[in-house]
Amino acid sequence: MYSIRIVKVIILVFCANILLAGEGMWLPFLLKALNEQEMQDMGMKMSAEDIYSINKGSLKDAIVHFNGGCTSELISAEGLLLTNHHCGYSQIQSHSTLENNYLRDGFWAMNKSEELPNQDLVATFIVSMEDVTEQILKGVNENMTSKERQSAIDKNLDAVKKAKQIESYDDVMIKPFFKGNQYFLFVTRTYKDVRMVGAPPESIGKFGSDTDNWVWPRHTGDFSLFRIYAGPDNLPAEYSKENVPFKPKHFLPISMDGIEEGDFTLVFGFPGRTNQYLPSYAVSQTVDVLNPAKIGIRESALNIIDKYMRQDEKTRLQYASKFARVANYWKKWIGESTGIKATDGIGKKHKLEKEFTEKVSVKDKALIPYRDILPRFEKLYKEIEPYALSRDMYNEIVFRNVELLRNMNYLNRLVSVYENNGAEGYNAYKNRLSGYMGNFFKDYNATIDKEVFTALIEKYTAEVPIAALSDPLVPMLRSGYQGLANSVYDNTMFTNAEATTKVFSMEPEKAVEAIKKDPAYDFGQKLTKAYNENVEPKYTALNTEISELQRIYMKALMEVFPERRFFPDANSTMRVSYGKVNGYHPRDAVYYTPVTYLDGVMAKYKPGDYEFDVPEKLRDLHAAKDYGPYADNGKMPVCFIGSNHTTGGNSGSPAIDAHGNLIGLNFDRVWEGTMSDINYDPSICRNIMVDIRFVLFIVDKYAGAGHLVDEMKLVNPKKAEEVKLNPSVKTDVKSGKKAKIKAKNKVKGKAPNR
Ligand code: ARG
Ligand code: ASP
Repeated sequence: MYSIRIVKVIILVFCANILLAGEGMWLPFLLKALNEQEMQDMGMKMSAEDIYSINKGSLKDAIVHFNGGCTSELISAEGLLLTNHHCGYSQIQSHSTLENNYLRDGFWAMNKSEELPNQDLVATFIVSMEDVTEQILKGVNENMTSKERQSAIDKNLDAVKKAKQIESYDDVMIKPFFKGNQYFLFVTRTYKDVRMVGAPPESIGKFGSDTDNWVWPRHTGDFSLFRIYAGPDNLPAEYSKENVPFKPKHFLPISMDGIEEGDFTLVFGFPGRTNQYLPSYAVSQTVDVLNPAKIGIRESALNIIDKYMRQDEKTRLQYASKFARVANYWKKWIGESTGIKATDGIGKKHKLEKEFTEKVSVKDKALIPYRDILPRFEKLYKEIEPYALSRDMYNEIVFRNVELLRNMNYLNRLVSVYENNGAEGYNAYKNRLSGYMGNFFKDYNATIDKEVFTALIEKYTAEVPIAALSDPLVPMLRSGYQGLANSVYDNTMFTNAEATTKVFSMEPEKAVEAIKKDPAYDFGQKLTKAYNENVEPKYTALNTEISELQRIYMKALMEVFPERRFFPDANSTMRVSYGKVNGYHPRDAVYYTPVTYLDGVMAKYKPGDYEFDVPEKLRDLHAAKDYGPYADNGKMPVCFIGSNHTTGGNSGSPAIDAHGNLIGLNFDRVWEGTMSDINYDPSICRNIMVDIRFVLFIVDKYAGAGHLVDEMKLVNPKKAEEVKLNPSVKTDVKSGKKAKIKAKNKVKGKAPNR
């Protein structure tokens, strides 16, 4: 007995080391069982119930999915919502005109009547979540084929959804976790009247732009402000002038006490997608084959766009946002591959797989089905490689980088809607499409696109392992790539706004006829046909097998290593990550401290540069050290890093202190640690946050929008703690209110840069 207990203790101690500090994106309703103790050991003063509760207001009631992609959080009793500048970018851009250029100059509503409505922008709350695995997997067994399994699951999904009692204004969503071994149900509530309240100029909100993207040290004030409006009953309502500011169940108080290295941090949000449980074969394929191909394609496109952007200002403006989007993951993949190599990510997978193999090789009947998982993975990944590569290249070219080809996909859909649903379906989709096209041509340059097309089609035909040189394409290439580009771009209607509008104004039948004759449409069709015939079916078949095997592998890992704690891969559902404010060693002999300051912004300042210009008002405030109550020992903090495990979708997530107060706003990760989606390593994986005091400083001192700070609840948790621990020590515990009054008195004159 005694020795068994000792073994258990040893296992527990050992297990604490397996899951490294900071790793994991946890389900809020399972924190009590899995994480609460560790979080408190790391310094957290809250309980799991303070973070997620269905009985009382808790932190989760302040966390909002921002338009399905980013995260945002409530920071006032009047529905004030904080997210990143890059998350609100398209709203800021859509309200911008040449006279009122909010991207360049910033925007600040000085009262609620100036807040700007946004069509199609939604804010979604999680009302509740529960485990429905048993109901969803009812009647499912391991002898079923994957098709049988899926159809049994689909039936159950339908039944469980229908049976769930919800309010008329709520929705139900069920998602698979742990590769389909578990299922959770979410009740969501979506607000549809979300108005723009404030945004700093790009020279603050996007300071450093692509050069600094994914990089520490960082100096970006990546934030924007919105407000949720509700009907008079505080429930979701379509936009109406009569709507009122939403009253939340909970909003985050804001800590004025700042952070120090070692402080506990919690990031609460909606991480999009990670792949932590891939076998080594998949990781090698990503690093050695797929990433390099995608990086190469984007590099060709970016070089061409960059060349034109440097030639004139109009092009620079037209392509800034597209360039940033393409450059974002181009840069991320380079960092990811580099990081996996630097931390021997594949070696670590091998080690785990060796342990796994040893475990399943012992004499135990139950383990027999697990013995061939890894060999099967090896075989399947080898088989899928040329298809996966062809698919990635096809997607990068046809859906991402050649704008004309991307639009041909939409036209293809239009044609098939006509062929399947007749004129009615055609007209509905055409109306949507012509709206999109109207915007598209504002920022389109066919000369650039043609050059990208020429370079990428050459690359595609030269490098793609399967499909490109199918018969119908070969004759088109006889005149060479330039010849092909000429014949497509010089004769298509769809590089031209008027010609496109003209097609849309025709009778459906005539329009479809014209579209089908267009050379760009024709070329797109041929490319897609080759792909659909030669790549897609085989890829899908192999990928289905891999997913099925991955489900069994996940189950096996959890069974074979019962002492380990597992978190499900990110899938755009609500998660909690936690860690500490923490610097790191990016390379030999170099240590990065975890906080940057406004002095660092000034050190990067390049007058007139589109990435590193600094607005005059900010330079003046810096020169006068006029930081109001937001400074830290006379310096203005800007960003900080921590060991919280985050990914795309966590942008805009709150960074929360040990007591549940807001200390920062998550927006990025460090270059060396971008591989955390595949292989989190606590030595170099760090998330980047804006210090909340910098946000308040910009709103209040820079923009003169102190009325927004007045709405917030400012607190001093650290100072309160000091007094509590040692009442005899007299500390100056400033209430938030006093701090605010002081700040307000200092702001004089009109609001700048409106
Ligand atoms: N890298 C961050 C993320 O993945 C920020 C992207 C926006 N900024 C930019 N310069 N592209 O979303
Ligand atoms: N920048 C990312 C986002 O927009 C966050 C990340 O990938 O770390 O969600």
